Amino acid sequence: PATAQGGGAPPAGDDVIVLGEVGALTGGQATFGISTRNGIALAVKEANAAGGVKGKKLVVRVYDDQSKPEEAAQAVTRLITQDKVVLILGEVASSSSLAMAEKAQAAGVPMITPSSTNPSVTEKGENIFRVCFIDPFQGFVMAKFARENLKLNKVAVLQDNKSAYSIGLTEVFRQKFAELGGKITATESYSQGDTDYRAQLTAIKKTQPEGIYVPGYYSEVGIIARQARELGLKVPLMGGDGWDSEKLFELGGSAIEGSYFSNHYSPDNPDERVKKFIADYKADNNGAVPDALAALGYDAARVAIEALKNAPDTSGPAVRAAIAKTKDFPGVAGNITLDAKRNAVKSAVVLKVQDGKSTYVTTISP
Ligand code: PHE
Repeated sequence: PATAQGGGAPPAGDDVIVLGEVGALTGGQATFGISTRNGIALAVKEANAAGGVKGKKLVVRVYDDQSKPEEAAQAVTRLITQDKVVLILGEVASSSSLAMAEKAQAAGVPMITPSSTNPSVTEKGENIFRVCFIDPFQGFVMAKFARENLKLNKVAVLQDNKSAYSIGLTEVFRQKFAELGGKITATESYSQGDTDYRAQLTAIKKTQPEGIYVPGYYSEVGIIARQARELGLKVPLMGGDGWDSEKLFELGGSAIEGSYFSNHYSPDNPDERVKKFIADYKADNNGAVPDALAALGYDAARVAIEALKNAPDTSGPAVRAAIAKTKDFPGVAGNITLDAKRNAVKSAVVLKVQDGKSTYVTTISP
């Protein structure tokens, strides 16, 4: 079962407001959950230092879902029934957020996903929000970059058929790339957790693509990159935000060098607000540079805290209505205005993997 983290948190009482968080702190997407948790913790620390909300301190109840959607759903039920949280932050992986949203919506408890990009997540109902862009835009960004910047004509796709995120992004990329005059030579699939991708890569190689789009998560993408190079596939690999992890460079090594992916944020941003966030985050996390998950976790928590301040009380309907009003909120991963479908409309960045890290290439706006 999902395990509670940070056992030192005080219990719910009249003097505290309890927020819920569900994240992958272990398993195949562990760096996503850990970065998000660190970003949320920084935002909550700052808010408490500034006096808390409505005269009360904020505490966060965190559950580890082990990178599994079923566990994420269970954790939401526990947060609502046992911990009596006023709102829920999470998840990163769209499949987990979809499972959570179902429960949060039914219970009337507002939920904000920092970083799930699959459109269906917020379609679960009026209580479900996100502070990031959605995949119809993200898929367009890489299709456009592949066509216009990399000048690719023929691209193959390798998707994770266990991930709502990967399936959705594949669909959009294929459509947009074709619309821009490119040709999709092959679409192959794998299942999260697989370790041998040679059959799919061999089939892809036969179609002689000039690039391969791999919209999966870092745990699999790193290995896919190595096996692709072993099989003599030298063309650039391209992906989405799911690549964003230090672990990608570890797993992919030199095989992932020269690849590109779309993302929400780049730590290279010279904006003062971003620089301050990076410095504060590093100070709290042994010098670690915040990735997009950390930035979006921080932003989601700050949007939640702002809504709690603005709401007349902390009931579900009041908090929900306050979140829905979020407009021009200054996030570190871009300004946040929530549209009628409870999604944020923001720019994306394209990053290149170079010398074992990701470097900023360009920004693409909606
Ligand atoms: N967008 C991904 C999903 O919906 C999650 C993700 C976001 C991963 C940002 C890394 C960085 O599943």
